[in-house]
Amino acid sequence: MSENHSDESRKFLAIHGGTPVRTTPIKTAGKRFDETELRELKEALDQQTLFYWHGEKVRTFQRQFAHLYGVKYCHMVTSGTAALHVACGALGIGPGDEVITSPITDQGTVIAILAQGGIPVFADVDPHTYNITPDSIAACVTNRTKAVIVVHLAGNPADMDGILLVARKHELAVIEDCAQSYLCWYKGRLAGTLGDISCFSLNDFKHISAGDGGMIVTNNESLSKRAGLFLDKGYSRDGTGRRPEFLAFNYRPNELTGAVAIAQLRKLPQICAHRNMLGDRLTSQIKGIPGVYPHRVLDDCKSSYWFYLGRINPKMLKVERDEFVKAVAAEGVPITPGYIGRMVYEYPVLMNHHAFENCKFPWDEKYGRAVQYRQGLCPIAEEVEATSWRCPISEFMSLRDIDDIAAAVKKVAEYYAKN
Ligand SMILES: Cc1ncc(COP(=O)(O)O)c(C=O)c1O
Repeated sequence: MSENHSDESRKFLAIHGGTPVRTTPIKTAGKRFDETELRELKEALDQQTLFYWHGEKVRTFQRQFAHLYGVKYCHMVTSGTAALHVACGALGIGPGDEVITSPITDQGTVIAILAQGGIPVFADVDPHTYNITPDSIAACVTNRTKAVIVVHLAGNPADMDGILLVARKHELAVIEDCAQSYLCWYKGRLAGTLGDISCFSLNDFKHISAGDGGMIVTNNESLSKRAGLFLDKGYSRDGTGRRPEFLAFNYRPNELTGAVAIAQLRKLPQICAHRNMLGDRLTSQIKGIPGVYPHRVLDDCKSSYWFYLGRINPKMLKVERDEFVKAVAAEGVPITPGYIGRMVYEYPVLMNHHAFENCKFPWDEKYGRAVQYRQGLCPIAEEVEATSWRCPISEFMSLRDIDDIAAAVKKVAEYYAKN
């Protein structure tokens, strides 16, 4: 709490002229690259090759990431979107195949499906974890469904036991989209080791960054082999020659990206542990405030909080979400409304069935179903977006920062509940 202000002025909301909870800025970013990255980069350059197959950096990173996750295979690629596309390609997703995923995700998840001619189908989310659920997935299954992309949103694991049961029952492949979820634990196992194949992102906004980049991990040898070909133009680089057998892409990483990723990976456990501690602390401080819902983490699970998404009950608090957020932000803490603004299925590319030019492919009946996307498709997810507030969680934040965010949320919620 800021000092030197009378108790009386603290009671008033800052938007009404009262003293804000916090009067100094909360630092959410800081120095994330240092000598460690520089040393790795120098070594990469000293190799006199930046090609992933000839140097040691990408290979080393892949080995270390696979070791950290306890999986057999890891391939590095150029982005999280590329990783998801490679996963879909490796699984053989093709024209008209339906792939179930979340309406609250990055467009990269959807690009991967469409790029293979697959059709995205959106399952609704749990109202407090914001992840797709076994029931919502089951409700979307048709005889064309081939796979599910489970997005572990914001560092928080989805209900994987139930999801794997549904997948097994309907013979669906499971891709885990862990772009936002490094070292995120599901009942003693890491999210990213539970499905058939999993994807990560190293874009600059994630827990760790290589500028851009991504990874695919799997324990399945044939999926790994296909992924290795799919990311490198279908070329086999093990001496068997250039004879691409299917359309593949160039998602090859380079040694500079690999070098930065090695250095970043060393920092990952601490980054995630700190974020986990901060996010859980925020939950423990705001739970029980009438009309405020914390970001729910399932029992025996652990979130690495890429961000924190709480919600309010506008009826109980007698205030609209936007006004609530404005009032909390005025208390000097970093809080913004919602997450993605609108559901992924509301983007014109889907609403207008406009993935490719001059045709309706893949919604064309020749290949698949003309799945319709419209507002109202996933009512819980839409409600989440309309009633949620987001605040950053970062390794550069302190316990006091979290305490001030919690105090601001409490002050504003209690004010509106009473007035
Ligand atoms: C859930 C999710 N999936 C996929 C992606 C795509 O990753 P990239 O930006 O590295 O392509 C992102 C990136 O924001 C993401 O958050």
